[in-house]
Amino acid sequence: MGLFKSSDKTAGRLDTDRLPRHIAIIMDGNGRWAKKRGLPRTAGHAVGAETFRKVATHCKELGVEYLTVYAFSTENWKRPKDEVDAIMGILETYLHEAIETMERDRVKMKFFGDVSVLSPALRELIAETERISDTFDGVQVNMCVNYGGRSEIIRAAECWARDREAGDTGELTEEKFERYLYSAGIPDPDLIIRPSGEYRLSNFLMWQSAYSEFYFTDVLWPDFNERELDRAIIEYQRRDRRYGMIR
Ligand code: IPE
Ligand code: IPE
Ligand code: MG
Repeated sequence: MGLFKSSDKTAGRLDTDRLPRHIAIIMDGNGRWAKKRGLPRTAGHAVGAETFRKVATHCKELGVEYLTVYAFSTENWKRPKDEVDAIMGILETYLHEAIETMERDRVKMKFFGDVSVLSPALRELIAETERISDTFDGVQVNMCVNYGGRSEIIRAAECWARDREAGDTGELTEEKFERYLYSAGIPDPDLIIRPSGEYRLSNFLMWQSAYSEFYFTDVLWPDFNERELDRAIIEYQRRDRRYGMIR
């Protein structure tokens, strides 16, 4: 019943009754993918956007509730302006298309990160996609743009300090602090996937990843696909999550 035949015959079976509720992905390796083919790095970002589309659709088909993707970090501004501009352009094109298809796909979109510094056109598209999709009940996609885990925590601390000054005298608990994060109301990621052969978090979901399972693969993001996602989920289903207890 709950067994979903993975598109990879060698990978085993994916149990759709034990899916991760929340998958998070560091979409990394676009530049190296392009370089290997003698293409400009931006070509890798364009193909990476296609991969994101495929993976989001697959999450929806499987019944994954939340997909959080790292698209642009607070540190990525240190790249050459041309590359940053190209990434922002690809995001703009993607959002234009998403607005056309999101009603059909029932994808709910949210943005994590300080989007106030993005171009007015992008900010408008972001507001529009969030508004249109607010009531949609398909997979919820949280797109991290100008996102950093540390700045998210500092922002939350500042918001709490403001509330305290305004008269909130209650104790600061983990549950309360979480309400100030971009991810307020969303369960922590069960599974964090990092492609491209790097074994680090690069400032992604620092707070929320406390008990996440990690899956690393050498596959570069533009080569990632539905089958690779199935593999990651099957591996996740083999893990024993103990949360500090003895079992
Ligand atoms: C990830 O791919 C996309 C962003 C960080 C915006 P990269 O551009 O980091 O690709 P590599 O890691 O250089 O191959
Ligand atoms: C992390 O990838 C950020 C995104 C994928 C958006 P990076 O390529 O920026 O990370 P580092 O520099 O390899 O740690
Ligand atoms: Mg990278």
